[in-house]
Amino acid sequence: TNLGILISGRGSNMDAILAAIKAGRIPGARPRIVISNKPDAAGLKTASEKYGIPTRVVPPEGLKGWDYDKKLVAALEEAGVTPEDGLVCLAGFMRIISPEFVRHFKMRILNIHPALLPSFPGLHAQKQSIEYGVKVSGCTVHFVDDGVDSGPVILQRTVPVMEGDTEETLSARILEQEHQAYPEAVRLFTEGRLKVEGRKVRIL
Ligand code: GRF
Repeated sequence: TNLGILISGRGSNMDAILAAIKAGRIPGARPRIVISNKPDAAGLKTASEKYGIPTRVVPPEGLKGWDYDKKLVAALEEAGVTPEDGLVCLAGFMRIISPEFVRHFKMRILNIHPALLPSFPGLHAQKQSIEYGVKVSGCTVHFVDDGVDSGPVILQRTVPVMEGDTEETLSARILEQEHQAYPEAVRLFTEGRLKVEGRKVRIL
């Protein structure tokens, strides 16, 4: 499976996936490209300097929806990430992708969200969780569909919310679990073990 990773910032989930691949823990994954919509995303440097993975910046330049996303698709396909044998991982990619992109890579796009979906979709999930007063939180890796953080759930990991937690302390606790969950989901995908049945994902 040829892998394309889309980032906008720090890229710590990208780093976790690339580290797992480098360590031989996801034998079916070949990382081909890391793409950012932002030129200053710190993850770009990590991808090229730590892992030697080609990177591209695809700046939006005012383009929206499919007009922008087709540039992403072109960059992915040029790097060998195709709808036949590709996997696209959104890893802190701070744009909502268009239905056309979703359809193009049907059930071949994954995302990670720092909450237990369907609770607290959208931005600032950890802050939403703190403010709501939930006692348990975590992260969710899911297939991307046309909605925001709404696609079939692949796996989730939980963390406790402690008294005195701030957005920062909870985010850090969740992030540790994200770094376990995302490489694991990529491994399951590349092993052909994720069977999507309607809204549900069965792990074979
Ligand atoms: C993570 O918390 C992820 O769940 C969310 O955005 C953040 C990205 O962090 N979608 P990083 O760029 O992977 O470090």
